[in-house]
Amino acid sequence: MDDRFLRALDAAADLEPTVANRRRLAQRWGDDAARWAFEQADLRRRAARKFPEAHRMLFDREGLEMASSDEASRHHASLFPRGELVADLTAGVGADLIALARRGPALGFEKDPDRAALARFNLASLGLEAEVRCGNCFEARWDFDFAFADPARRSGETRSSDPMRSEPPLTELLPRLRPLRLAALKLSPLASDAVLESVGGRVRFLGCGWECREALVLLGSDVRDPGAVEAALADGPVLGSEPGGEAAEEPAEWLHEAHPAAIRAGCLGALARDHGLALLGDSNGYLTGSRRAESPWLRAYRVLWSAPADTKRTQRALRELGARVAEVKHRAPAPPVAPRAFRPEGDRPLSLIVWPNGRSLRHALAEGPV
Ligand SMILES: C[S@@+](CC[C@H](N)C(=O)[O-])C[C@H]1O[C@@H](n2cnc3c(N)ncnc32)[C@H](O)[C@@H]1O
Repeated sequence: MDDRFLRALDAAADLEPTVANRRRLAQRWGDDAARWAFEQADLRRRAARKFPEAHRMLFDREGLEMASSDEASRHHASLFPRGELVADLTAGVGADLIALARRGPALGFEKDPDRAALARFNLASLGLEAEVRCGNCFEARWDFDFAFADPARRSGETRSSDPMRSEPPLTELLPRLRPLRLAALKLSPLASDAVLESVGGRVRFLGCGWECREALVLLGSDVRDPGAVEAALADGPVLGSEPGGEAAEEPAEWLHEAHPAAIRAGCLGALARDHGLALLGDSNGYLTGSRRAESPWLRAYRVLWSAPADTKRTQRALRELGARVAEVKHRAPAPPVAPRAFRPEGDRPLSLIVWPNGRSLRHALAEGPV
C-alpha cells in the first residue's frame, strides 16, 4: 500500500469530510489519496461495530458488509484443531482468516485482487502471518485437510439467502468440502431447512448478541453425528435440537423468550426440559413457568396480566396498572401492533407480548426483560 495514501488516511481519521478538509489533504497528498483516505476513514468508523481493531485495518464497502464479525470469526476458528493448517477458501477482507491465523497455521484464497491485497494488509497490520493467494480456490492444489468457506451471498445488487445462488456456487464447493477432515461452511440462517438438509453435515445456528447470525454447516470425516442440528452462542454453550414439550395456554408468573438461534435450531424442548418450563401456546419461542430461569438462552419477563387479545381490554389493564406500552414482543402470524396503538395510562413501562394460541391471539403485559 502506497505510503502517501496511508499518511493521508492518518490525517483524515479525525477530520469531517468537508470540502475544505478534502482540499487541504489533496494539496498535501494528492487528489486520489485524499479521496481514498476519506472513504477509508468512513469505512473504518462503520467497521468499528464489527471489529475492535478496525482502526488498524482497510476495507472495501462490499467486503466489509460481507465480513464475519470479530466474535463470529473467533467462533469459526475455534472449531479447528490448533496446530493444523486451515484454508480460508473465500478470504474477502480477511476477517475469518485473521481469526484462523491467531489460532494457528492458515492460508487464504481470494479471487478479487483488490480484496486479496486488503486481506494481506490487515493480517500484516495486526502482526499475523498467513499467505493470501489471489485466485480461484478451485484452481489450486488442496494440500490441507481443514477448510472454512463463506460464499458471497450477493448476486448482482441484491443479497440472496438462497445458498445455491452463492459465489462460489455450492454445487462446486460441496463435492470438494465433503472429502476433507473438517470443513465449516457459513450460510444464511434464512436458508430453508430443505436446503440445509440437502447440504448434509451437522448444522449449527450461531447466535451473536440476541441475533441468529448464521447457519454453519460442518462437513467432513471428523464430524460427529452428521445430520444433527444445534444452536451455539459465539462464546458459549451449545444446545441440541429437541422440539416439542408440554404446552400451556396461559402464562404463569414468568414468561421467557428463547434466543433466536435456539428457536431457529428447534431447541425449545431442550430449554423447557432443562429449566422446568412449558412452551407457551403456539408461540414457538416463549416458555413459561412459576420461577425465573437463568440462562444465556432465555430472556425473562414478569407477567402482570394476560387475556385473549382485545385492544379495549388491554387498554383497561394498562389503566389499572398505571402503565404504558414501551415495546411490543410479537410471535404471531398477524402483523405486529405498534406501541402507539395503546394510550399511555401512566409512567410504568411494560412490554406487550402477543402470541397465537390455536386460531386466536393472546396478550400479556409484563415487566422486563429483568
Ligand atoms: C462473503 S465474502 C468472505 C468474507 C470473509 N469470510 C470475511 O470474513 O472477511 C466471499 C468472498 O469470496 C470470494 N470468492 C468468491 N468465489 C471465489 C473463488 N472461487 N475463489 C476464491 N475466492 C472467491 C469473493 O470475491 C468474496 O470476497
